[in-house]
Order: sequence, then C-alpha cells, then structure tokens
Amino acid sequence: MKFKKTYKFAFTVSLALAIFSFLTIMILSYLFYTQINLFFSISFSLLIFLFSFLLVQYRVERFIYRRVKKIYDEVSLLDIDDLKKRSITSDMETLSKEVKKFAEDKRLEIEMLQIREEYRREFLGNVSHELKTPLFTVQGYLLTLIDGAINDKTIRDKYLNRANKGVDRLINIVKDLDMISKLESGNLNPKFETFNIVGLVQNVFDLLEIKAKKRAIILTFDKKYDAPILVKGDIERIEQILINLIENSIKYGKQSGNTVVNVKNYSQTQFIIKVTDDGEGIEEQHLSRLFERFYRVDQSRSREQGGSGLGLSIVKHIIEAHNQQVFVESQQGKGATFSFTLEKIN
Ligand SMILES: Nc1ncnc2c1ncn2[C@@H]1O[C@H](COP(=O)(O)OP(=O)(O)OP(=O)(O)O)[C@@H](O)[C@H]1O
Ligand SMILES: [Mg+2]
Repeated sequence: MKFKKTYKFAFTVSLALAIFSFLTIMILSYLFYTQINLFFSISFSLLIFLFSFLLVQYRVERFIYRRVKKIYDEVSLLDIDDLKKRSITSDMETLSKEVKKFAEDKRLEIEMLQIREEYRREFLGNVSHELKTPLFTVQGYLLTLIDGAINDKTIRDKYLNRANKGVDRLINIVKDLDMISKLESGNLNPKFETFNIVGLVQNVFDLLEIKAKKRAIILTFDKKYDAPILVKGDIERIEQILINLIENSIKYGKQSGNTVVNVKNYSQTQFIIKVTDDGEGIEEQHLSRLFERFYRVDQSRSREQGGSGLGLSIVKHIIEAHNQQVFVESQQGKGATFSFTLEKIN
C-alpha cells in the first residue's frame, strides 16, 4: 500500500533537541570553566539531530500509520470500495479532506434514500387512493341493489352494468401497476423482432376506431405509406405505446378533431413516430412531469375519461427498455405531439 509521508514533525522536534543539546553543552562548559570545543559540540548536536530525527520519524510513522490505518479499516467496513482504493496517508490535511469527502458522499447517499422513501410512501398513497374510488362506486351500486333495487329490472341491469364498469376500471389499474412493477424491476426484457410500424399503427387505428367515432375524431396518417417501414422492437409493447398515445389523443383531443400519425427518419439508425392531435394541449409547467406515475394535468377531466395517469409512465418505461427516446411538445389550446424513436432495420 502506498504511504504518503510527512517529515515536518520529526524535523522540528529533532531541530529543537539539537539546539537544546548544543546550548546545554555550551552553558555547562562555560559554568564549569572547561575548554569549549566548538567542533565537538556541533558534531554532538548534529548526531543528536540525526538520531532523534530518525527515531521520531520512525515512531511517528508507526504510530500514525497504525491509528490512521485503523480509521481507514473502520470506515471501509461501511463502504469497502470507497476508501480502500486510495493510499493510506499520515498527512493529516489529506486525511481530513478524504474523511470530509467520505462524509459528504454518505450524506448524499442518505438524502437519496430519503427521497426514494418519500417517493415510495407517495406511491402507496396514490395506489390506495386510485383503487378506492372505483371500489366505492362498485360497493355503492351493490349496496343499492341489496337494499331492494334488485327487484326493479331496469335499475338492476343499469346498476349491474355500472358496477361491472367499475370492476373493469379496477382491473385496468391493477394490470397497469403490474406492468409498471415488472418494467421497473427489469423483469420485462423486450423481445426484439422486426416488424412493419405502418401496419401496426393501422391495427391500432382499427382497434380504436369505435372510441374515436364516439368523439367524431378522425385517425389518419399524414400521407399514404405504400411501402412497409421496418423497425426493430417488441411488437406487443410498441403496440401498447401506440394504444396509449392514440387513446390519449382521443380522450384529450377536441370533439370532431384529427389525430395524425407520421413516421420519419430521425437519425441514421432511427425512425421517429409522431402522434399529433389538435386538442386542448398541455401547459408548459406540466410537460416535465407528464411521464410520472399517476400524474394527470386535470385530475377531474382525466378521471371522467377513465384515466389513472399510468399510461405515459408505462410508455416511458417501455421506450427506455428499448434504449430509445420519447418526447412531448405541446402548447395549451394548440394540441399536443407525442413522439418516440425506434431502431431501423438497415
Ligand atoms: N394528447 C394529450 N393532450 C392533452 N393532454 C394529454 C394528452 N396526453 C396525455 N395528456 C395528459 O397527461 C396525463 C397523463 O396521461 P396518461 O396517459 O399517463 O394517463 P391517463 O390517460 O390519464 O390514464 P391512463 O393512460 O392510465 O388510462 C393525462 O391525464 C392528461 O392530463
Ligand atoms: Mg393514457
């Protein structure tokens, strides 16, 4: 192990001793009227200096080294990687600097853990809150049925249907949460395959056609894509992304509006797929938080649309698992564009 040395301490002590012995010899010989042998006293003092320097230096090194090494050992018990790599030093300045740095690192680590803990607490609160609403709705309908509504055929069917919708919503939330936890624990590695992104978008258009019709929204491409555009990715997951983005454009788009999808070159190795709507748009202050779990711009409007705010966080996770990027551009009242990149097939 490297050992940074400091000689200052030994030097000062030996110098003091040498001067002291020189002066003592001088004074003693003066008092006892002996002949002062200058050469003798200087050599003697030099010898004293040399001897004490070596002795002190040796002892100090041993002493400090042992103590300091103990500190290093104790500290590295907490974190072996942090300090072991560095050389041991007997230079107090370096040592205190290192210990300070170590303490600072630890402080940051603790702060991070606290933030994470807070996040976890908030997340649990969000989950139970999100589950409570539909559960109480379902319970409300069931209780009314039990209280006698079951005897009226029209009310019975209506309430059973509504209760069923509530259960659907619960299932959706639980499925989304399950998906997120799988994505976050990295258990869901994408199964990469080659597919035609234009065909996939068309599938999603077909799937969401009825929903779009209800709000008289037209789903189209920006132009006719005759040739297939081949990309690499997990087709099921990418479909999930498209469903959420296009569903959002229907939910938050304007009545009788348009949702336009286009596919373009983004870089030498990537395409970019953009989903643009002409709806209410999103205020700038929300943009950076949009991909957080449970984040919704307008809680009441979003809930009335049946949203729990998990869709975009799933989108982000999937894109990250693909090592690709996702973007959002929007201005309040001027619609929104969500886009993501995918790897090209040559
Ligand atoms: N195209 C859009 N135009 C305007 N606002 C949008 C658009 N897409 C998303 N948002 C806003 O972002 C929020 C988060 O969207 P996200 O897809 O994560 O959740 P959600 O659609 O509310 O619920 P979920 O997707 O879980 O059913 C929405 O609640 C909405 O406020
Ligand atoms: Mg959504």
